[in-house]
Amino acid sequence: MVCLLILPSKIQKRRLEDMKTAARKRNITVVDSFCSSVTHIVTEHENLDQVVKTLKLADSGTLDKIQVLSVAWFTDSMKAGAPVPVEEKHMIKREKADRDNGGNENSGRNPLILPEYACQRATCLKHFNHKFTKALEILQKHAELRDNERDSSRALAFRRASCVLKSLPFPLTSMSQLKNLTNIGDHCKRVIQEILEDGECREVNELQDDWFQKMVVFTNIFGIGSATAKKWIEKGWSTIKEAQEGYISSDWRVRWGLAFHTDLNTPVNLQEAQYIQQIVRKEAETILPGIILQITGGFRRGKEEGHDVDILMTHPEEGKEVGLLARLLQRLQNKGIILCGNLEKSTYSDEMLTLDSKLSAKGQLDHFEKWLGIIKIPHSCSENPAMDYSGSLSIISSCVHKGTGCSVDNSTCCTASEQPLNYQPLNLDESLDLESKAKKQKLGTENEISPMELAKLDRNWIARRVDLIVSPYDQYFYALVGWTGNKQFNRDIRTYAQRELGMKLSSHGLYDLNKNCALPARSEKEVFQNMKLQYIEPWERNC
Ligand code: CTP
Ligand code: MN
Ligand code: MN
Repeated sequence: MVCLLILPSKIQKRRLEDMKTAARKRNITVVDSFCSSVTHIVTEHENLDQVVKTLKLADSGTLDKIQVLSVAWFTDSMKAGAPVPVEEKHMIKREKADRDNGGNENSGRNPLILPEYACQRATCLKHFNHKFTKALEILQKHAELRDNERDSSRALAFRRASCVLKSLPFPLTSMSQLKNLTNIGDHCKRVIQEILEDGECREVNELQDDWFQKMVVFTNIFGIGSATAKKWIEKGWSTIKEAQEGYISSDWRVRWGLAFHTDLNTPVNLQEAQYIQQIVRKEAETILPGIILQITGGFRRGKEEGHDVDILMTHPEEGKEVGLLARLLQRLQNKGIILCGNLEKSTYSDEMLTLDSKLSAKGQLDHFEKWLGIIKIPHSCSENPAMDYSGSLSIISSCVHKGTGCSVDNSTCCTASEQPLNYQPLNLDESLDLESKAKKQKLGTENEISPMELAKLDRNWIARRVDLIVSPYDQYFYALVGWTGNKQFNRDIRTYAQRELGMKLSSHGLYDLNKNCALPARSEKEVFQNMKLQYIEPWERNC
């Protein structure tokens, strides 16, 4: 089925109307503006770049699956009474980079076709194309930080391209290997080509200027987004110290984020994550025996470091989880572990399952009861020999790039552990006691200490960001997928559900919009089955 868009540029209004009428008379669907159902574009423009500009697209990636044709094709089709097969003479010029490579590498046709959505392929932490993906992710980061109009869609385009390269089962050595791959637009192709030829890309090097560096430093502060960071740079600030001394915030996250910047920007390692999980588990099990508790986020995807620890909790008996989080926090507070945080009540109602929220960042937020905060753990917990981690880490035996036939060395690729850990916890009460004594001697009661003063104390603990999330059991496996991420994987699997299945996926469930019913899942595998997807392991979701 042809769905035709005729670009008005360089075509007189009368002629344009005549063309549309002629096409409709021949039962061809003609639309007046660009949309996802368009299959053919007819234009007087001479090359693809101009079409991209006219349609205000971030790059030509969106047009990969669309025939962009000259008026000659239109005329031939009208004469024939129906759309004619596309011949060379009907095509408009592609970009220079494309043409050059298409021309001289005809023989090296690449048989590899990657599935379009990241949720249909494995993307592991270790892959073959880091030098390209790093460059593309700098372009992505820059667009995100700049945050002007259309920057978020540009950022996404860079990320999608990077994600495709991460799934490639071989190191990229020639532009011809990109031929059948989707999601790699002209801008990305230019960058890749330059890296292939020169080993680096000038644009990417130049992007990492003073402004970029400062923006990265500032937005790495807990609670600081690009808007505030920009203001600070406009004020002439360039260091954390200047912000610590000059910025007064009513936002608890920023106050603590600034004060504990050094702690919070020291990556959390696996041992620390497991240590935190163990403390939380011990308290949670006391309150609610039978609780299910799982580290999610980057650590579940096999990362060895992260910016925080994400812990998802539920209980197999429906309703038992209600009230758990407040009691858990009280116990952690009594232990003196909590520095600060915010408890968000659940805002879930069943309509969230069907609500047509945009696939935007905001539309993806979930409605679980959760606590985002900062806790303290002993400095020594990641190196303490008293802890026994033997047998606590199960290295998953293989990591196969699904759909590409590649297998990556498992020892570097996958580390996720689903088993409860076996170790002797430190006596936390004791180790933190020293500090509270010191505090009392120095400054009286805890309430009088500002985050900054607390950070400056001679202390034997380090501040760590923790996210605690509570889900009802019937939503748990969807929550698990959502909170395992990564963000790009979530974006893709949700887009896939919507576009390909007419379903709405969120961390609360999967809703079939055609049949008007929710699809329950009793395991993570069932989540994938419900969407007719091959199961992708957590460590294969590092898009
Ligand atoms: N997430 C979510 N809802 C939020 C916050 C996060 O669903 N309100 C999801 C994100 O999509 C992400 C996962 O939970 O995939 C973990 O989020 P985050 O901790 O921000 O990222 P990580 O992937 O864990 O990265 P890091 O290791 O740096 O923590
Ligand atoms: Mn995380
Ligand atoms: Mn998190």
